[in-house]
Amino acid sequence: MNNLNDDALNLLFRDARSYSAWLNRPVEDDTLRQLYDLAKWGPTSANSGPARFIFVRSQKAKERLRPALSPGNVEKTMTAPVTVIIAYDLKFYDKLPKLFPHNPGMRDVFANNPQLVEVTAKRNSSLQGAYLMLAARALGLDCGPMSGFDNDRVDKEFFAAGRCEDCVQEFFPEGHVKSNFLCNLGYGDRSKLHTRSPRLEFTEACTLL
Ligand SMILES: Cc1cc2nc3c(=O)[nH]c(=O)nc-3n(C[C@H](O)[C@H](O)[C@H](O)COP(=O)(O)O)c2cc1C
Repeated sequence: MNNLNDDALNLLFRDARSYSAWLNRPVEDDTLRQLYDLAKWGPTSANSGPARFIFVRSQKAKERLRPALSPGNVEKTMTAPVTVIIAYDLKFYDKLPKLFPHNPGMRDVFANNPQLVEVTAKRNSSLQGAYLMLAARALGLDCGPMSGFDNDRVDKEFFAAGRCEDCVQEFFPEGHVKSNFLCNLGYGDRSKLHTRSPRLEFTEACTLL
């Protein structure tokens, strides 16, 4: 197959919306594993993959998130089957010997340049969050991305303690990981959507040189 058909393009883009209301249908852990196993293939600088994803799906874990949410984001988050914290590891360069083995010097390029680390981690974790959303849509899930929350509060609650309660695997060492944005996942209730807002036309957003 060289390109997707119209149905697939509709699923990924034209019919895909940002959801605030959810059908009463759970998202299995296995679906979350499939989701990551697709999203991980998206490109990042030096194949650094700085994003870390925390799938918050138990009621207990959701309650830890609640106090950090903007008032307008509380209801949609607490009712979503899953809320992903898309975060970034400021020590992502320690994984470069595995992820970028053909250039062993790359680890130190980052390790000696905190400014480069910051901009690389933010840029690429944002991209990886976008890959995650498109992968979710490809698997038939719906998304509700959010930046309306207190990042410092989320970082203290989920990352600063150095222990990740209830996580299958503990790989968020103290202080290295910071939140970027949140994304609710589930099966969206189309009946609760408002009319879609327009997008810029090609001539407004693009230039051909
Ligand atoms: C990074 C990001 C942050 C967002 N923050 C919020 C938010 O805090 N609360 C909210 O209700 N929607 C939020 N949105 C949703 C946008 O308003 C929505 O994606 C946009 O209006 C397009 O809507 P549509 O996908 O239904 O066309 C956010 C979206 C993105 C990508």
